[in-house]
Amino acid sequence: MEFKKILITGGAGFIGSNFINHLLSKRDDVFIVNLDKLTYAGNLENLKPSEAKKNYVFIKGDITNNELVNYVFNKYNIKYVINFAAESHVDRSILGSEIFYRTNVIGTNVLLEASRRFEVEKFLQISTDEVYGSLGPNGLFTEKTPLAPNSPYSSSKAAADLMALSFSHTFGLPVIVTRCSNNFGPYQFPEKLIPLMIINAINDKKLPVYGDGLNVRDWIYVLDHNRAIETVLDHGKNGEIYNIGASNEKRNIDIVKLILDKLQKPESLIEFVKDRPGHDRRYAIDSTKIKSELGWKPIFAFEDAIFETIDWYIKNKSWWERIISGDYKKYYKTLYENR
Ligand code: NAD
Ligand code: DAU
Repeated sequence: MEFKKILITGGAGFIGSNFINHLLSKRDDVFIVNLDKLTYAGNLENLKPSEAKKNYVFIKGDITNNELVNYVFNKYNIKYVINFAAESHVDRSILGSEIFYRTNVIGTNVLLEASRRFEVEKFLQISTDEVYGSLGPNGLFTEKTPLAPNSPYSSSKAAADLMALSFSHTFGLPVIVTRCSNNFGPYQFPEKLIPLMIINAINDKKLPVYGDGLNVRDWIYVLDHNRAIETVLDHGKNGEIYNIGASNEKRNIDIVKLILDKLQKPESLIEFVKDRPGHDRRYAIDSTKIKSELGWKPIFAFEDAIFETIDWYIKNKSWWERIISGDYKKYYKTLYENR
């Protein structure tokens, strides 16, 4: 059988590992090469369900390494690329931006150049709704909303999107950009709102809510995001951008209260702390295009999926205990102590 030979970068992170596990659990027409640097956010434990599969290989390496990327494309005759690899956390980009531009911009450029040389059939750039900036109380981000990124993280992602689209326009590289809203689900690194709050609540630690807690994010279960990426991989049109979201706008404070309620912990654990600098007020995604043109729609109800996620963190204590007992302690102290 002819395999789809797919290079997945950043496949040991939260979304990438869920995507690999999802794809390999249901398809045998794909061969996946997972190239991941294993930064603090990369974790091979996430890939236990896939590691023994014959149509899967892992390579530890950096997407900014031109020579290595060339070797991987050549050795595995790569025809599809899905670029998840990134520095992904806004707060870390505020603490230090350089690595964000190195990985997210230079790294994407290395992949685009290799994809051009090796004449790939599809290049999916996994992007974010944060490239659109911040919304007021009304309106939704569409694919036509002008880019207005506000953080070093989102500006690096916007740069990568524009680079990828320019390679489509100038060289005819078959690029597609997807822009998804906030994901949650299993294997999410506990620097992000939902796992951080679940773990702190389980440990009876304070729950640090930035500013007034009224910032709004539009949540999607990671498996719905993965289903959307699979749809775009199979049916997306080259040169296009697809927004992905599940219409679950929630205020941060309401998410935190829901987690406390489910874990039967008191609201007195909530602590309002100094706001994130440049904190975007509201994100909300219009995903009409992917729904009407490609037939994707989310299938997981928010309440069910968040309860599933809380249960996953309850049942997988050893996964996150290993994380929070390591370098994470230093990060947590730098970001939250004396905030
Ligand atoms: P993550 O931080 O959990 O994982 C990132 C992965 O990339 C890690 O495994 C890390 O080791 C790897 N990586 C980092 N630098 C690398 C490099 N130079 N070379 C190779 N590998 C490298 O991130 P995530 O939340 O899974 O996000 C994945 C992608 O999806 C990112 O591009 C992000 O911008 C995008 N995205 C995330 C969300 C979200 O809510 N988390 C929403 C929309 C889009
Ligand atoms: O919108 C998609 C983006 O969502 C992705 O591109 C990013 O990779 C991902 O990190 C996420 O960005 P956010 O900044 O929205 O996610 P985060 O989980 O860091 O924060 C969600 C909201 O919760 C935000 O308004 C800040 C707030 N927050 C976050 C943390 C970590 C708190 O109030 N307290 C916290 O401790």
